[in-house]
Amino acid sequence: MSAPRVFVPGDAAALSVGADAVAATIATEAQRRGIEIQITRTGTRGMLWLEPLVEVATPAGRVAYGPVQPADVASLFDAGFLGGGAHALAHGRTDAMPWMARQQRLSFERVGVIDTLSLADYRAHGGLAGLQRAREIGAQAVLQQVIDSGLRGRGGAGFPAGIKWRTVAQAPGPRKYIVCNADEGDSGTFADRMLIEGDPFALVEGMAIAGLAVGADRGVVYLRSEYPHAIAVLRRALALARSEGLLGAHFDIDLRVGAGAYICGEETSLLESLEGRRGQVRAKPPLPAHHGLFGRPTVVNNVLTLAAVPWILRHGGTAYASFGLGRSRGSMPVQLGGNLRRGGLFECAFGITLRELVHDIGGGTASGRPLRAVQVGGPLGAYFPESLLDTPLDYEAMAAAGGLVGHAGIVVFDDTVDMARQARFAFEFCALESCGKCTPCRIGSTRGAETLAKVARGEAPSVNLKVVEDLCTVMTDASLCALGGLTPLPVMSAIRHFREDFGVRGTP
Ligand SMILES: Cc1cc2nc3c(=O)[nH]c(=O)nc-3n(C[C@H](O)[C@H](O)[C@H](O)COP(=O)(O)O)c2cc1C
Ligand code: SF4
Repeated sequence: MSAPRVFVPGDAAALSVGADAVAATIATEAQRRGIEIQITRTGTRGMLWLEPLVEVATPAGRVAYGPVQPADVASLFDAGFLGGGAHALAHGRTDAMPWMARQQRLSFERVGVIDTLSLADYRAHGGLAGLQRAREIGAQAVLQQVIDSGLRGRGGAGFPAGIKWRTVAQAPGPRKYIVCNADEGDSGTFADRMLIEGDPFALVEGMAIAGLAVGADRGVVYLRSEYPHAIAVLRRALALARSEGLLGAHFDIDLRVGAGAYICGEETSLLESLEGRRGQVRAKPPLPAHHGLFGRPTVVNNVLTLAAVPWILRHGGTAYASFGLGRSRGSMPVQLGGNLRRGGLFECAFGITLRELVHDIGGGTASGRPLRAVQVGGPLGAYFPESLLDTPLDYEAMAAAGGLVGHAGIVVFDDTVDMARQARFAFEFCALESCGKCTPCRIGSTRGAETLAKVARGEAPSVNLKVVEDLCTVMTDASLCALGGLTPLPVMSAIRHFREDFGVRGTP
């Protein structure tokens, strides 16, 4: 009989609450009791309130225990947890837990399941089948599969991935690049990190398929410097992929560590940064698809966009498109955070409502106080009041409600939030992160913060809110990129839905 298998996550979220100490204590306790066990380090399942979540393999499937602290380990052994025994921290079969059972895990199917850095485990769980299929059907058919899937960019703008790829494929030139945007600067988001720290070969495979589809033999991952664990995991994964022949002369990937600025996540700033210059936005056109890295045709895609591709090739574009609705096809790894009882990663088909996400899945506020606002899509996303929580998470419905899906970070606030303060923060954030290239953003954000400070001091609030509104119109219409262009979303949604916080009454 083989030694019992124990799974302990090694991703940054689990490490931050002591997963390494738990793994070490389990190893020591097993040795002390003379029991041989096998400990596998995985990514996280995404149920962050239960980390460190320890799992054991049983004949009925994996059984979960959490949150486990080193002090719990002896009692877990006493309870026979290696065989799935009953314990106060037991949650039963992991895949039957409500959080897991309600998901459609396509891109994250292996995260938390496999040994993060084992290509053999990756293969055993369906890895590389997509790349193999891509090689069999050839570039044109791969492009068609991605177009048929309806996959849209998961980094924020939601541009159809297949169309972008086709543009690069058709662009002339001997050298083309696949650039993966792993800058993940949006507040409340962590899905890129989680994917890289839990299933790095999915990203490698997605990039290799993209290279095959557009005729690129080089890829670059631009990974934020604030993610030291993801950097270490990806570095090792790339070395392993090279040593096992998955990467090499036909397609290889470089890892570049970001420069620590929010604007470096904007694709043209990112390219500037990769070329060794200050991260400053380039005017478009030309599009990166025509004139990207070092002037070559370049696909720039988010981690989640690229990591969705192996599933699409393995199961077919139409199978992917059967999830979701309207023009929002497939699944979205939603990141739930802020003042929420259950925060974490929840991957599901587009169409789920914000209410289901924050109340049913997230369990409402952690403070137990009434929920007041939900910001969707990072620092450039709109604030939704309780009355708009029936809005479905889909690109068009969110836009119609005055917001955006963005990278699908959802941050919850209870009734103690000061929405005038949040609106001012949006301007301050823009002022701090502005690349300075265009006036509406560089100057407008500072003037906006100053004007909202006057409102907070009670200086002619109605007049000054009108000034802010005009300023927002200019920023929306005249900013060169979405940092200046979308900052009005959080500002104006706060003013529109929470006007009472600004010291004025009635509708604008
Ligand atoms: C200020 C700003 C910051 C951005 N940050 C990111 C980021 O961190 N990660 C990302 O994938 N896209 C980010 N984007 C979007 C990118 O410019 C680009 O649309 C995306 O990388 C394209 O990939 P996709 O089509 O797969 O989404 C940002 C855009 C702006 C305007
Ligand atoms: S909107 Fe802001 S960040 Fe974007 S180009 Fe203009 S100054 Fe730079």
